Amino acid sequence: MSRKKLIIAIDGPAASGKSTTAKLVAQRLGYLHIDTGAMYRALTLKILRSGLDGFYSKKIGAIAETTRIELVPANGSLKVLLDGEDVTEQIRSPEVTIAVSSVSTLRDVRQAMVREQRRLGKDGGVVLEGRDLGTVVFPDADVKIFMVASIEARARRRQQELLEKGIRTDLETLMNEIRERDEKDSSRDESPLRKADDAIVLDTSDLTIDEQVEFVVRKAQEKLAEQDNA
Ligand code: DC
Repeated sequence: MSRKKLIIAIDGPAASGKSTTAKLVAQRLGYLHIDTGAMYRALTLKILRSGLDGFYSKKIGAIAETTRIELVPANGSLKVLLDGEDVTEQIRSPEVTIAVSSVSTLRDVRQAMVREQRRLGKDGGVVLEGRDLGTVVFPDADVKIFMVASIEARARRRQQELLEKGIRTDLETLMNEIRERDEKDSSRDESPLRKADDAIVLDTSDLTIDEQVEFVVRKAQEKLAEQDNA
């Protein structure tokens, strides 16, 4: 009997280590990595380019329905295509980072994104990461991880990432930005960031990337073994 390919859902706040972990877990298992934040970011870029302000939901809903967002594995990471155009770098700009918090609160936007995420993940063999994978998108996911880390640990990671791009930032500013994003992600009406009751909490404040990856891979292997024995 061939083994079932799992659906692994990783949720958690900004800069908790989800993307790096999800990418490496997917590589280890030969699964597809789906960065749902990148999808919301790509759509936000299109909305910003169209000149609409982030709250005019009707037109934005129409854009969400007709936009093609693809995540293509390339050189060990993900290339993000927006209607065929490579926007991998542009979706990380400060303008997009600010606007995406509002765009991702819109119901029409979430409906379109969730539908696409379910289509991509339904056959398993996927590691999806974001805010609502274990609660809304795949409440029946085989493995659910809720990643957390202290605000300071997360700000330090962001600081390091930015430094690698030649941008110097002050830790206090980054901590405040993270607090603000946490507040927005957790208090919105539509699919707020929330741990699923059956998700396993993984605190990455004092873990190395290898340790984080190992933890999730082990949970996946346990699940596969359970299925073999069922
Ligand atoms: O993980 P990230 O910073 O790339 O996410 C960008 C934004 O998208 C963030 O403000 C929260 C939102 N988001 C969401 O609402 N639901 C998801 N499943 C993923 C991201």
